[in-house]
Parts: sequence; C-alpha cells; structure tokens
Amino acid sequence: MKRLAFLVSGSGTNMAHLIRKIQAGDVSAEAAIVISNKPEAKALERAKELGVLTLVVSHKDHATREAFDAALARCLELHKIDLIVLAGFMRVLTEGFVKRYWGRILNIHPALLPAFPGAHAIKEAWDAKVQETGVTVHFVDCGVDTGKIILQRKVPVLPQDTLETLEVRVHGVEYEVYPEALKQVLSGKVTAPPLKG
Ligand code: GAR
Repeated sequence: MKRLAFLVSGSGTNMAHLIRKIQAGDVSAEAAIVISNKPEAKALERAKELGVLTLVVSHKDHATREAFDAALARCLELHKIDLIVLAGFMRVLTEGFVKRYWGRILNIHPALLPAFPGAHAIKEAWDAKVQETGVTVHFVDCGVDTGKIILQRKVPVLPQDTLETLEVRVHGVEYEVYPEALKQVLSGKVTAPPLKG
C-alpha cells in the first residue's frame, strides 16, 4: 500500500475528505502523515481527530526555501512516503524538491488551469465575471500550477451566485475530484511526463 503524506497550510477540508475516503476503504492507500508549514493550521486539528500523525515544519524556522524543502524531504524519507498530496499547501516548492519527487507530487487547484493560477483563484475568476470556472488536479512541476493535468471538472457560475456560494460549490467539487484523481494515480493509470534535464 502506498504511503501518503499530506502537505497543508490552512483549513484542511480537502485533506480531511481524502483521509476519510482512505479510512473508508474507498481509496487504497495509507494516510501516513500530515505536515503543515503553519503551526496554527486547522488542518492539524482535523488530522489529529482522524487519528493521523501530524508534524509542523515551519518555513519560518528555515532561512531559505532550499533549507525548508530539505527539512520536508528529511521527514518524507523518515516516514517512507511514496506520494505527496498537496491540499491547500501555500508554499512554492523548489526545483530540487520537485525533481527529487518527480511524478509523486499532486496538487488541487480551485480553477480550470491554466486559467487563474496562484493563491486567489476563485476570487479572480469571480472578478473576471467568467461564466464557468472549475477544479483541477495536476502533477506538480517546477512552475506554479503548471504541471500535467490529471483531472478537471467545470463549475458553472450561476446568475444568483455570490462569491461565497461559488466558493462553496467549487469546494464541493474539489471533494469529489481529488479522490478520483488520486485513485487514477495510485492505479498507475495516469503518470507524469518524463522529467527533462
Ligand atoms: C482549496 O480550495 C485548494 O484548491 C486551494 O486552497 C484551498 C484549501 O482548502 N489551493 C490553492 O489555491 C493552491 N493554489 P482546504 O485547506 O480546506 O483543503
């Protein structure tokens, strides 16, 4: 069974949904550890309630991004992690880290990439008055929200929507799409493109 590490920074609702799917036997993997770069992240509480080991690796304790990523890598090696699941992890990983774990890092993004990359995708889509937005799960490469897409699902923006109702619907779709994408990767049905260079 593949051992998963969840990297989080915030609320952790995607992480919690995935862990529940794993614990229910719907996704065949082991939720080995949850690592947060923020000690105050709500995700840590949720993980503890679900009985999953938690760890804080604070970016503030490391002088450079390289040093932070090296600390992350040490934890991942120690816990024999096979696959890294980013779930609201708001740090950009270094090229060295991404290459080391090439094809073994997944991310979820609340927009139809390549549209609206970055940290404020739902708000930006809302401000742009698009008629539809969505959710993307992708492999992480050396860019920001640019890796090979595993699964995407559209979410229409309805005439009666407010930013808040749109956010709720986007998150609801995330909870459906991430487990599906994870299953596809775990089964070997989808793989990352070969690493160049
Ligand atoms: C999710 O909507 C996720 O797609 C987004 O952060 C939220 C985390 O919520 N990630 C990004 O915007 C990454 N660029 P959660 O902590 O409740 O899962």
